[in-house]
Amino acid sequence: MIYLDNAATTFPKPEIVYEKITEAMRDYGANPGRSGHDLSMRMNREIFNARMAVTRFIGGDDPMSLIFTLNCTDSLNMAIFGLAEQGDHVITTAMEHNSVLRPLTYLEKQGIIELTIVEAAPNGMVDPKDIEAAIKENTKFCVTTAMSNLVGSILDYKEIGKILKEKNIYYILDAAQGLGYLPINIKEDPVDLLCFPGHKGLFGPMGTGALYIKGDIPLKPFRIGGTGSFSLELDPPEILPDRYESGTENGPGIIGMGAGAEFLEKIGLEKIRKHEDHLKDLLIKGFENIEDVVLYGPGGKNQGPVVTINIKGKDSSEAADRLNDMGIAVRAGFHCAPLSHKTIGTLELGAVRFSLSYFNTEEEIQETIQAVEKIAKEER
Ligand code: ALA
Repeated sequence: MIYLDNAATTFPKPEIVYEKITEAMRDYGANPGRSGHDLSMRMNREIFNARMAVTRFIGGDDPMSLIFTLNCTDSLNMAIFGLAEQGDHVITTAMEHNSVLRPLTYLEKQGIIELTIVEAAPNGMVDPKDIEAAIKENTKFCVTTAMSNLVGSILDYKEIGKILKEKNIYYILDAAQGLGYLPINIKEDPVDLLCFPGHKGLFGPMGTGALYIKGDIPLKPFRIGGTGSFSLELDPPEILPDRYESGTENGPGIIGMGAGAEFLEKIGLEKIRKHEDHLKDLLIKGFENIEDVVLYGPGGKNQGPVVTINIKGKDSSEAADRLNDMGIAVRAGFHCAPLSHKTIGTLELGAVRFSLSYFNTEEEIQETIQAVEKIAKEER
């Protein structure tokens, strides 16, 4: 199978990720941070190594400010519900995933926040000036994606963050699609809360994610319970990461995520990005030459390794089924991004998304172009 559904979950993973997860499960699969025996201490130590590796990869300087979560939705929920208070105004954009839109809409419908959703251009780009224009006296925070999961448009998060910093407004960056491709650096970028999954660009397994809290941000704890620390206290601990990491963690998963971060560090982001950009350009060029293919997204340097199309008036799910029959895995439909589809004008057909990874090859891209050409011809 040619796997081009990496924006959903990267597959395959680097060999070292499989090895480290298997080792954690087989050789020292004990509960971390609860007991003092060797197996528990080893799990604890390996999780800490993963915390260091992931923190290093995002350019953070405090591993204790990195909170392991279940996925990016969990990280976003933790940041959004942690910050929102009665009467706050919040800004987001039309290019967001439901992991941002749904928690914010929920808070709005509960009468807790006032929400502004900034429109995007039909190619999926957001003008930072439109965010600036949406700022009000009571704007508490802004949440945007780094890169659209639908069309790969890269938002100018540095400029957005700069505007927000001038007004002391918190910035939550959803790096679900950006991390592992964009050179995100939490220390240098004007971002306060960085949310990301382990199972996408970081090459970890599903069920992993993280939230990096830059500085002293008073988040309400979102998941409260046992931490293995301060066990006689009935209140959640004040110290990080314990305050936000309750319950037994996904030890093997976190260790796999750490191994993924180390793999990225070893290969180097530049090399990964260059390879993915090369494949993306090939794919876009190939699709441009096929009659009846409609391409979405800004193209060029404003677009990450996600290429989205429709084939004539064909329903996107039918096109994806046909591709599946031809051995190509893609995602069709609405990608949990209703307002993004409204923005690009695909609420009727949905769209077919091809998302790339470091492990894809030129041959796979050529085969994919030929398959789409064949489907387009069948439609004529
Ligand atoms: N958010 C993931 C996607 O866009 C699952 O496919």
